[in-house]
Order: sequence, then structure tokens, then C-alpha cells
Amino acid sequence: MSRGRKVAQQACAACHAVEVSGVSPRAKAPAFASLEMRHTAALGGRIEQLTRTGHYEMPPLELRPDEVADLAAYIASLEPRRR
Ligand code: HEC
Repeated sequence: MSRGRKVAQQACAACHAVEVSGVSPRAKAPAFASLEMRHTAALGGRIEQLTRTGHYEMPPLELRPDEVADLAAYIASLEPRRR
């Protein structure tokens, strides 16, 4: 398993669908494989900002810079969802 996927499962899966398929436990949280999320992950810094400050009900997380980079790379690597 890639390290980014592991971080996603530990830190984000409570609310987001973090795999290629699946439905987010929190309906409003976009699936990581959605185009929106992959686009966001490709924007440097956005994932770091979201994890550091927290977002919506998510508490701030202290992730190491390499964990953030792995996480962003993992999300960006997911194939788009076929609807
Ligand atoms: C406690 C629940 C929760 C957890 C845990 C959580 N999120 Fe979210 N996240 C949400 C919700 C809810 C939304 C959508 C809110 C809305 O648009 O109304 C969201 C939206 C987002 C967005 C898109 C919104 C934007 O401003 O760009 C990104 C990117 C994101 N989350 C990344 C992450 C990452 C990365 C993690 C793990 C480190 C994570 N989230 C963990 C609840 C959560």
C-alpha cells in the first residue's frame, strides 16, 4: 500500500471515500477520486492548508510535510470516477 493511501485511510476515511470507488461516509465530503478532489490535490499547498487548519468538522491535523506530499500525490493519482 502506498504511504499516501495509508495516510488517507487513517486521517480522512472517516468522512471521505478515499478509494477509487465507494461513497463518502459523510455525504457532503467529496470522494477523493472525484475530479474536484484530484484537481485540489494538484494545487500545491491546498491539502497542507486544509489539514493544518482543519475544515468543516475535521479537527486540525499535524501531518509531516512528507505525509502531506504523499497524500496529495495519492489523491492526484486516483483515476476519475466513472458515473
Ligand atoms: C470529520 C470529517 C472529515 C475528515 C476527517 C476529513 N474531511 Fe475533508 N471534508 C469534509 C467535508 C464535510 C467536506 C465538504 C464540505 C462542504 O463542501 O460542504 C470536506 C471537503 C474536503 C476538501 C474539498 C474542499 C476544499 O475546500 O477544497 C478537501 C480537499 C478535503 N476535504 C480534504 C481532506 C483530507 C486530505 C482529509 C484527511 C487528511 C480530510 N479531508 C478529512 C469532512 C472531513
